[in-house]
Amino acid sequence: MAIITLAQTKGGSGKTTTAEVLIAEFAHRGRSVAALDLDPNRPLGRFVARSADLGGVHVAVPGPEHRVSDLIADLSTRVEVVIIDLMGAATPDMMVAIGFSDAVVIPSQLSEPDVRCGIETWQMIREVERLGRREIPKAVLFTRTSPALRTRAQEHARRQYEKLAIPVLRTEFMERTAFKEMTFTGLAPNLADRTGNAARNVIAIFEEIMALLPAPVGAEAVA
Ligand SMILES: Nc1ncnc2c1ncn2[C@@H]1O[C@H](COP(=O)(O)OP(=O)(O)OP(=O)(O)O)[C@@H](O)[C@H]1O
Ligand SMILES: [Mg+2]
Repeated sequence: MAIITLAQTKGGSGKTTTAEVLIAEFAHRGRSVAALDLDPNRPLGRFVARSADLGGVHVAVPGPEHRVSDLIADLSTRVEVVIIDLMGAATPDMMVAIGFSDAVVIPSQLSEPDVRCGIETWQMIREVERLGRREIPKAVLFTRTSPALRTRAQEHARRQYEKLAIPVLRTEFMERTAFKEMTFTGLAPNLADRTGNAARNVIAIFEEIMALLPAPVGAEAVA
């Protein structure tokens, strides 16, 4: 049983896109996966509904009678992996989701606001760690980076995180039209052509995130 949360207080950083390709990757690998959509716009349910391959994936949403902690407890008994997508803001739901997580990924574009909010998100995770007296595996994922060139923004953003000893995944989530098209078709590139550039990018990200998980949790999630 693994709970993986995409958290970043900055909106538009790539949380939902990352959640979608991770759901698709777990499904492709035959793992039972569910999602918890804590963004009031509820993008995940629409994505799964569009996807011919993800028909069996349950997307839970909170309501007056369904507290986040109840939903997580319920999903945990039913599936092997729960992916939690949050809205781009510091919310109480975010703290609860982080508290339950086996790993938290912080998507961050190469911009000052993304890096500033990425650091804020990191600090919030640290607070939850202190509350729960446990360390939560966590790392920044650079998103929407150029497949063609390395920019100074890339080095600058990486340095900002490294200065604070915040780990950044080696693999970056590249900017590709396939990830945009996916929002219309529901077809994650990693379910289409596993050898294409976009799919290989997702697989590399997936493997790095799996390596973040504590050994028994990770082994169970990818077994
Ligand atoms: N790797 C990518 N390649 C191309 N487009 C991308 C990529 N990642 C994200 N996008 C696009 O960027 C926009 C924002 O991405 P996304 O919705 O995943 O961010 P978010 O962090 O979930 O935003 P919010 O905080 O509003 O929920 C979307 O239009 C999405 O299609
Ligand atoms: Mg989103």
